[in-house]
Amino acid sequence: MSTDSLDTAAKNEAEAKQAAQADANRGLDASEGDDDNHGDYGGGDPDGSQPIHEYDDIKECDNLLPRWWLYTLYATIVFAFGYWFHYEVFKTGARQMDLYNEDVQAQAAAESARVRAAGVMTPAALLAFSRDAAIVSRGQQVFRTNCVTCHAANAGGLVGPNLTDEFWIHGGNPDQIYATITDGVRGRAMAAWGPQIGIENVQAVTAYLLTIRNTHVTGRPPEGERVQAQ
Ligand code: HEC
Repeated sequence: MSTDSLDTAAKNEAEAKQAAQADANRGLDASEGDDDNHGDYGGGDPDGSQPIHEYDDIKECDNLLPRWWLYTLYATIVFAFGYWFHYEVFKTGARQMDLYNEDVQAQAAAESARVRAAGVMTPAALLAFSRDAAIVSRGQQVFRTNCVTCHAANAGGLVGPNLTDEFWIHGGNPDQIYATITDGVRGRAMAAWGPQIGIENVQAVTAYLLTIRNTHVTGRPPEGERVQAQ
């Protein structure tokens, strides 16, 4: 027998031993009904570093997780609950959509301030007002207080025409609507509101009307000319 074959014999024996050990470990797992294959930390392998499986020379150990790793995991779980309660349950945190909407509103408010400073009520200026939620809600208030007796609460029209269709007697462009409200219609029930409620309220109620035009509420039938919304 050569030295080589002696070595091989010794190696085979060692491998057989390891395999037997691995089998024994498997038997232990099976007898405990522990099918997730976690090591038995209470036994002779406190740090789980002994192989619990070995197939094709690949050893699987069941080491204890490092403490820092475990605590990081627990911290993320705690954080997740905190996050969820803060944003989803109590809604105490501003979510991205809210922040975005705030930005859009701030932009609209800045634009309407700029337009107001410029002074001239162009169609673009009035449309800028109609995108400013603060102005529109003020306009809705003005409408409720002064206009619903003749134009109805839903603006579908009573004595006065339907303001939600695309037909206008005195023009449906933003500046024309603004002019009708400011100056009224001579000889008709529609008064000149400019002097009565003030220029800012006329601007606001115009902005409100621009948000509800072409919503086609049922009410008075169309009067005037069809207008392509500007
Ligand atoms: C006393 C009744 C009455 C009140 C109150 C009234 N309106 Fe009118 N409004 C009318 C009538 C009637 C007309 C139609 C005038 C005509 O036939 O030319 C009209 C026309 C209009 C028009 C033009 C519609 C078109 O087709 O061109 C607008 C805009 C309008 N009103 C807005 C308002 C606003 C805003 C208010 C409140 C600030 C208001 N009205 C309050 C009776 C009223």
